[in-house]
Amino acid sequence: MSLYPLLRPFAFALDAETAHRATIAALSLAPRLPLPSFAPALTSQVAGLRFPSPVGLAAGFDKDAEVPDAMMGLGFGFVEVGTLTPRPQAGNPKPRLFRLKEDRAVINRMGFNNGGQAAALNRLQKRERRGVLGVNIGANKDSADRIADYVAGVSTMSPVADYLTVNISSPNTPGLRNLQAGGELVELLQAVREARPPNGPPVFLKVAPDLEVGDHDRIVRAASDNGIDALIVANTTVSRPPLISSQRDELGGLSGRPLKQLALEQLRLFRSASGGSIPLIAVGGIENADDAWDRIAAGASLVQLYSAMVYEGPGIARQIADGLARRLSQSGMSNIVEAVGSR
Ligand SMILES: Cc1cc2nc3c(=O)[nH]c(=O)nc-3n(C[C@H](O)[C@H](O)[C@H](O)COP(=O)(O)O)c2cc1C
Repeated sequence: MSLYPLLRPFAFALDAETAHRATIAALSLAPRLPLPSFAPALTSQVAGLRFPSPVGLAAGFDKDAEVPDAMMGLGFGFVEVGTLTPRPQAGNPKPRLFRLKEDRAVINRMGFNNGGQAAALNRLQKRERRGVLGVNIGANKDSADRIADYVAGVSTMSPVADYLTVNISSPNTPGLRNLQAGGELVELLQAVREARPPNGPPVFLKVAPDLEVGDHDRIVRAASDNGIDALIVANTTVSRPPLISSQRDELGGLSGRPLKQLALEQLRLFRSASGGSIPLIAVGGIENADDAWDRIAAGASLVQLYSAMVYEGPGIARQIADGLARRLSQSGMSNIVEAVGSR
């Protein structure tokens, strides 16, 4: 039985960022759980890595890589830590994290608050490697050369990462998303390619959901030409679908249920642009097994979530994995790979 329904009223009595810090602190004290086992039909290989369940934790929950093993123990098939920037930075002034309860959504304008790559590297070097750990890298807000920050991230974090994610899609670092534009993207991905160590981890690219016609083809081409191993679709949105919560006008990136439709549409556009030539990882508004199944059927090899966990607790990863295993057997499929792009 999940304890989260009992704990949620206490967590929700705190402001959102205090609740988050308390959660990380509690998880870092908890005894290490063994890795859970999942239905064998959920195991897949993506970018040369073996994923025991396709349901992962999205970046931003464990920015400083403090609790990846706890999150795997709680039922995530893989965990992405970060975004980590080369140098530590404080992020935006508080408050900067808002729960939109009535909308089952979150708005954040954290601004890559993190303790920097060296501290995270040190922490991750001490851990026994198990499960699939992704490290999401970004650029410092005041960096004079943002591409150099990604190059530094690739060099610094490769030794401890099972995969790296190049995150150019956060709306909370002014100008960062310009790296998604034509020439800049190609320049960035070429630099990343040159920085990759021999036998280094695969590199994924995380994009925003706020793209325009033509962007999908261009991004897929730039990614394929430069050896990107998967696309993560998508980050938070700066758009504002209709919302009812009182904090709906806060500035920042919106995630959770109101992002669901947009993220699914963007996934479909990337699938049709790529024709399945590059693996896709779906994220945005996934809150149950039906949502996860829809993304997989639309072409996602893996899914990630964050906001739904705020409302449902970490047990949601396991629930979705179990629901996917049931859907597979109902559909007469023997492995999750058969479901990818099946619709
Ligand atoms: C509080 C918060 C912080 C986030 N920080 C990051 C981040 O540092 N790097 C990143 O790539 N995505 C970050 N994200 C985006 C999530 O990884 C994810 O792409 C987005 O929230 C959509 O998924 P969801 O609807 O399941 O939350 C953050 C999201 C939230 C809610």
